[in-house]
Amino acid sequence: MLRQVILAASRSGALRRVVEHAPVTKQVVNRFVPGASLDDAVHATTELVTSGRAVTIDYLGEDTLDATQAQATADAYVALLGRLADAGLTRQGRAEVSVKLSAVGQAFDEAMALDHATRICQAAADAGTTVTLDMEDHTTTDSTLDILGKLRQDFPGTGAVLQSYLHRTEADCRDLATEGSRVRLCKGAYKEPASVAFQGAKDVDRSYVRCMKVLMAGPGYPMLATHDPRLVAIGLDLAKERAKGTYEFQMLYGIRPTEQERLAAEGETVRVYLPYGDEWYGYFMRRLAERPANVTFFLRSLASKS
Ligand code: FDA
Repeated sequence: MLRQVILAASRSGALRRVVEHAPVTKQVVNRFVPGASLDDAVHATTELVTSGRAVTIDYLGEDTLDATQAQATADAYVALLGRLADAGLTRQGRAEVSVKLSAVGQAFDEAMALDHATRICQAAADAGTTVTLDMEDHTTTDSTLDILGKLRQDFPGTGAVLQSYLHRTEADCRDLATEGSRVRLCKGAYKEPASVAFQGAKDVDRSYVRCMKVLMAGPGYPMLATHDPRLVAIGLDLAKERAKGTYEFQMLYGIRPTEQERLAAEGETVRVYLPYGDEWYGYFMRRLAERPANVTFFLRSLASKS
């Protein structure tokens, strides 16, 4: 219930202004977002790579209806990839990027979104690394998978994201479990209706296990994105049938860092999803929605400052 309320709020302009101007927000946000600038992103990436983890970087922004903004986002990714390559961080794909198509025009001009995504994929290829297309709410799934298919014609390493809360996802996993296909499996972070998505946590988890089994049995490259200890343990069990380096675990920046280090120390590939930029509101609200304790932490820090 609380999750649904916060997710609804994550798309409210009025609440956005309140949260963005709250006295302590920056300090609280920094737990999940290491900074706003390109330098902040490169610095945090360097630290993670030095600690033995891989990284996928998200230049924050989503749901734009403005062509100039979409262009600026694509430009920011191209600049980021250049900086990462210059710093030697893209070697062996240690650092790659995650892109939300809604940040590059998907909502109003799919062809424009494809053009921008193509430019970002080309910059990633020039830098020796890859792009993963984040998955957003269910109204965008078909469009995103369609654009993925087009991008993969020239950039076969482009990664997909599938969300286990959607009823359709087990079938999508079967379609995408092909040779070399990079697929990130997550639970899903948006407010979705019962007509398309499982509503109970247990059903979402069971679906995650079914999807994970499909991906881990196939010839693709599964990217298991979860902090859930039970699902990580099942993933490790399924991984016994595979060579290390043919799959990876993924977690968000600032969440379960000790577990990230533990898995990396055991020789697992662990990739951290690292967001940066000014447009942190939607991302931050989804992190609050995932864990009631985060809301309490946020409200307490507000109370202590006021
Ligand atoms: P769950 O929410 O059950 O959490 C399990 C445990 O992890 C919790 O008990 C807690 O210990 C810890 N935890 C989880 N979230 C936390 C938080 N916010 N703060 C503190 N602790 C937390 N979604 C999407 O719709 N599209 C996408 O493209 C992506 N991309 C993506 C990339 C990566 C690398 C990750 C890890 C996740 C995503 N997600 C996503 C988000 C995903 O769908 C999901 O909302 C979160 O990962 C939380 O789900 P868990 O699997 O971690 O389980």
